Amino acid sequence: MAGAGGGRGGAGLSAAALLALPALALLALPALPVLPPGRGAEAQPGFSPPPGFSPPLLLPPGLREELRQRRRDLRRLEAAAGGGEAAGAAGLGCGDLSRATAVGVLGWGFTKVVARAALAGGGSVALKSVHGAGREVRRCVQRYGAPAGCRRLAAYKLLKEVTLLQRLQHPGIVKLHGQCYDNSGDAELRVTAMLELGSPLEMIQLLQTPWEERFKICLSLVKLLFYLAHSPLGSIALLDFQPRQFVMVDGNLKVTDMDDASTEELSCKEDNDCTLDFPTKSFPLKCSVAGKCEGINEKKNLFNAYRYFFTYLLPHSAPPTLRPLLSDILNATGDLRYGINETLRAFEKVLHLYKSGLYLQKRPLLLKDYISLKGFRTVEGEGYKCWPSYSHLGCLLSIHSAEEAAAICNSQLHCQSFIVTQHRTWTGRPLASFQSSWTDLIPDTNAVVYIKRSASSGERL
Ligand SMILES: Nc1ncnc2c1ncn2[C@@H]1O[C@H](COP(=O)(O)OP(=O)(O)O)[C@@H](O)[C@H]1O
Ligand SMILES: *[C@@H]1O[C@H](CO)[C@@H](O)[C@H](O)[C@H]1NC(C)=O
Ligand SMILES: *[C@@H]1O[C@H](CO)[C@@H](O)[C@H](O)[C@H]1NC(C)=O
Ligand SMILES: [Mg+2]
Repeated sequence: MAGAGGGRGGAGLSAAALLALPALALLALPALPVLPPGRGAEAQPGFSPPPGFSPPLLLPPGLREELRQRRRDLRRLEAAAGGGEAAGAAGLGCGDLSRATAVGVLGWGFTKVVARAALAGGGSVALKSVHGAGREVRRCVQRYGAPAGCRRLAAYKLLKEVTLLQRLQHPGIVKLHGQCYDNSGDAELRVTAMLELGSPLEMIQLLQTPWEERFKICLSLVKLLFYLAHSPLGSIALLDFQPRQFVMVDGNLKVTDMDDASTEELSCKEDNDCTLDFPTKSFPLKCSVAGKCEGINEKKNLFNAYRYFFTYLLPHSAPPTLRPLLSDILNATGDLRYGINETLRAFEKVLHLYKSGLYLQKRPLLLKDYISLKGFRTVEGEGYKCWPSYSHLGCLLSIHSAEEAAAICNSQLHCQSFIVTQHRTWTGRPLASFQSSWTDLIPDTNAVVYIKRSASSGERL
């Protein structure tokens, strides 16, 4: 790692020398372009649309044209966004980047590679830069044979993303902490975005989480789409809408890949120009008098949310009385009968019914079949396993009340007792721990243990 240890205090590896990480070599990602040591620190902190930002004359005409187009798009986006400097100018810059320590690769896509880095002052960020060995750059090089120009082309995409992230602020959009931009010298344009650190979305894992958690993901997505439909830049479509473009931050879903976002609605002359096509379905839309396909961005997002998220996450193991409402949501978004406003309203109605306990069916009161012992709890590890539990060690479920817990306990073969814990889920509901035994009680002033009368009758209490 020669030459990389120039950071303050000399500890660790400069993030600028990310390329040299053995982990990257193992991942077989050759020729990742990252700031060479020492370079980044000299560049201007903060983003300033570069004056000398024109591609060298030696590039093939086709590539030059593509570069021109990307630059024009970027300028237009900046103008639409109010132009000038970004709002959060006080963010991290090249200096912070050069003093950061690279930790490892988080992921990559066709265009960008993302690494985790520890900041010198504490805290971690995700660093995004152009993926020099990615499909986007490779394809361009095949066509034009100009690696530096092709990386520059990809860098424009990252710049577009940075511009969008500066202007769009929402809990469902990954936060931009800063950027480092270096255009000194050659054809190369090096852009590093410093982002809020998340973890890639694991759909398989999500499928195994309790319904309440899956509902939360879908609700955050709906809130994000509501924001995008009414954003300060107009209605925005995420063109590449797949789970891998999202990350989880503290249990919240956030979109991270914004370079494929479109702030323009499709232009049209007649309704026939406005068909929204998906592999399994197409929707005829209207051409407005202004010559735009009305609501096409909002609808595209919503149908994608339906096909990539709602169908997998929303229905299964939902509370039975909420199922008809959830089916309605699935049907209405799958047929695009709902716009995003109605979808959000429908989700909030489900949330209200769930939080308030109104979804609970009227049923015989069952808690009277339980003896409650105040000041005790059962010992850990007495639990049987159930699905989908909040803990893989036992049966830990979200409940509305002790009455609902009693109903759950009655319905489960192994359940003999339960305790209502102090833990709350994101909706504010307590977690209850269900047990197959009640004989090992330990004093706990804050707890109450509920024991099935039938379980205790045969034994001494
Ligand atoms: N803020 C982040 N925290 C953690 N991982 C991230 C973050 N941003 C992106 N990633 C991971 O890096 C991958 C590539 O990033 P992305 O922006 O989607 O690049 P591309 O445009 O090449 O698809 C993502 O699929 C995701 O797994
Ligand atoms: C919605 O319901 C209608 C009527 O039952 C049905 O024909 C249609 O296929 C459903 N659409 C979706 C996306 O489930
Ligand atoms: C949706 O809600 C937004 C924000 O409240 C509002 O501006 C817009 O007019 C609504 N659209 C429709 C179609 O109701
Ligand atoms: Mg991506």
